[in-house]
Amino acid sequence: MHSYIKANLAPNKNIGLIKLHDEASFNCMKKSGKLASKCLDFIEPYILEGTTTEYLDRLIYEFALSNNCVPATLYYRGYPASSCISLNNVICHGIPSKKKLKEGDILNIDVTLIHDGWYGDTSRMYKVGKISRKAEILLDITKECLMEAIKILKPGIHTGDIGARIQEIAERNRFSVVEDLCGHGIGKIFHDHPNILHFGKKGHGYELKEGMIFTIEPMINAGSKDIKLLSDGWTIVTRDKELSAQFEHTVGITKNGCEIFTIS
Ligand code: MF3
Ligand code: CO
Ligand code: CO
Repeated sequence: MHSYIKANLAPNKNIGLIKLHDEASFNCMKKSGKLASKCLDFIEPYILEGTTTEYLDRLIYEFALSNNCVPATLYYRGYPASSCISLNNVICHGIPSKKKLKEGDILNIDVTLIHDGWYGDTSRMYKVGKISRKAEILLDITKECLMEAIKILKPGIHTGDIGARIQEIAERNRFSVVEDLCGHGIGKIFHDHPNILHFGKKGHGYELKEGMIFTIEPMINAGSKDIKLLSDGWTIVTRDKELSAQFEHTVGITKNGCEIFTIS
């Protein structure tokens, strides 16, 4: 009942209410989202065997600065890089390093760019050369999970409908949904209320309203959903060492559906 607030009336922090943004804010999100997706387009030709993920991160840093953006992850809660680069069995929050890409690797690159104070958050999967058939299917299904969830978005549905749709597609293909990490409200702050779970039941959770802005970012595992946090305090891997994939978009709820701010 008292779950929503006009974003313009709310302080610039997570206050446990869902912010409803106006058209001017949607236009700002369009710009930051576009830049984040352009950054992911830009990095694609550099995904080559022998390249280090640290080098890719450096290029992303330079892309951000030369496009009047700040990479949101840099120094965020002590995170040391401009992107998260998660290889193979890494689910998310992989820290760019001197490790070299090799043929057959799959990797997620997640960038959040702040432009004019607004956050655009998106991630995609990339392949190094030829990948296994199983990896190929995992990538296709994970992308399908995200895009099919986006298709149902409109005022009146519930956050649980999003999770249910994703879980249905993943499990129908004998994959599992990571439950420990979720999508999030976003706008002038990085991680806002509400959490967008990638599993759940239809009709549960919050009702979507025009003006909501959030991310959907399903992490889908080839094996079990269980995770492990590495001792660096960031890197999250599959407990069974199987492959994991993720795609992410930032979206805004419109009168009749949604707008994808981070579309390429
Ligand atoms: N971009 C990630 C997300 O989708 C957050 C990364 S936070 C970091 O929400 F500190 F790990 F970089
Ligand atoms: Co996100
Ligand atoms: Co992200």
